[in-house]
Amino acid sequence: MALTSEEVVALTRKHNYGTWRKQKSWKPVHVVSADGCYFTDGAGRSLLDFSAQLMCVNLGHNNPAVIQTIQDQAATLPYAAPSYATTARAELSRLLLDVLPAGLTKFFFTTSGTEANEAAFKIARMYTGKTKIIARYRSYHGSTNSSIAATGDPRRWPMEPAGKGQGVVFGPEVNCYKCPIRHTYPGCGIACADYLEHMIRNESDVAAVLVEPVVGTNGVLLPPPEYFPKLRRICDENGVLLIADEVMSGWGRTGRWFALDHWGVTPDILTTAKGITSAYVPLGLCATTGKIADFFEEHFFAHGHTYEAHPMTLAPAIATIHEMQRLNLVARSEEIGAYLGEKLFSLRAKHPSIGDVRGLGLFWAVELVKDQHTKEPFNTWQEKLDGKPLVVDQIAAKMMASGVSVQAWMSHFVLAPPLIVSRAEIDIAVAALDEALVLADVLLENAVPVS
Ligand SMILES: Cc1ncc(COP(=O)(O)O)c(C=O)c1O
Repeated sequence: MALTSEEVVALTRKHNYGTWRKQKSWKPVHVVSADGCYFTDGAGRSLLDFSAQLMCVNLGHNNPAVIQTIQDQAATLPYAAPSYATTARAELSRLLLDVLPAGLTKFFFTTSGTEANEAAFKIARMYTGKTKIIARYRSYHGSTNSSIAATGDPRRWPMEPAGKGQGVVFGPEVNCYKCPIRHTYPGCGIACADYLEHMIRNESDVAAVLVEPVVGTNGVLLPPPEYFPKLRRICDENGVLLIADEVMSGWGRTGRWFALDHWGVTPDILTTAKGITSAYVPLGLCATTGKIADFFEEHFFAHGHTYEAHPMTLAPAIATIHEMQRLNLVARSEEIGAYLGEKLFSLRAKHPSIGDVRGLGLFWAVELVKDQHTKEPFNTWQEKLDGKPLVVDQIAAKMMASGVSVQAWMSHFVLAPPLIVSRAEIDIAVAALDEALVLADVLLENAVPVS
């Protein structure tokens, strides 16, 4: 007999771990089906998926071409060991050359973003013969040993110090709204990049600098235009690799195939996952330059997984890229993202609790503050780790009650709908946010009444 929705939730709660939380507060919604920009819960309610699940279902749900490819691949060749060549692998590799930043020509496939980063760190260390990775505080790079060690945000804290890999040092992120080194753009001359150079020169043994070109979960932080050309030069002058983690910012999310395309910079290693298959199957990618690839012609490539280049993961990536091209989704992300941006900027003018609105393409953050001048957030990282109810979670719950799902994080929302989202759907989501933000506005000292 089919399980009731209550049974599904109860069994899930009892036998599974809810990620990144104290377990007692986990109340998962039963997702039954999904189509386009909506998913349906166990009570038959349709919810507008305004963060594309985890900023990953870029094509929208239930894309028939991708689903057909999964079925075809299962019928033809569901698995082959990584030492074999497969048609899916060759076709995807050829296609990647068309969409990745020019110069990234050799690929290692994984089944997640975190594993793509693990591969990147090992490759960087083997290639340079050096150890340290410089990462930035406001960042997330994954949950496995080295990736969590390279993660600046507090999801790393419970693993400190014994439970994480060694060899990562943290530098300042680029955050022009709330600069960690209290500078102001453009007078700063991009001092946050200069400080990374200072670190490289004083640390010694630095293999790579690791960045999310547009920081994702930690608040869609955008670099000024000079940042990446400058960081590229710093890395080159100091013999250090640049690793771009485009797990979230890739695949049209920012209005380019990859975020670094905005600044014409090619990293030495690019990692990605999520949108590569629109998350229909778990696939990650670690792409390197030909120069790094050449090194391993004569050096042992000490990395691999049973599921590396798994045909069931690669074939849907081919279909995803073709669908993105057919639907012109990269250009669409830029165009319709500008519309979303305009709507969000008008919310900022109306709600005193909004400190900042920023984004590119269909990748936006709305950051809430208690006070516009101090920019103090409503909650602290420690409160999040302690499982205290956060203001943003209350707002997200209110939006969910009115049929819109968004990702809330500490004191901001990440708005990143599927790239097929319509203007009408954007209007619905922004109206729900507008209404729910009253919850934050009334918490402000000297709150200005919102009409
Ligand atoms: C920038 C970034 N890197 C790495 C990861 C880890 O990817 P995965 O969850 O597939 O391991 C994420 C996940 O959200 C991410 O946003």
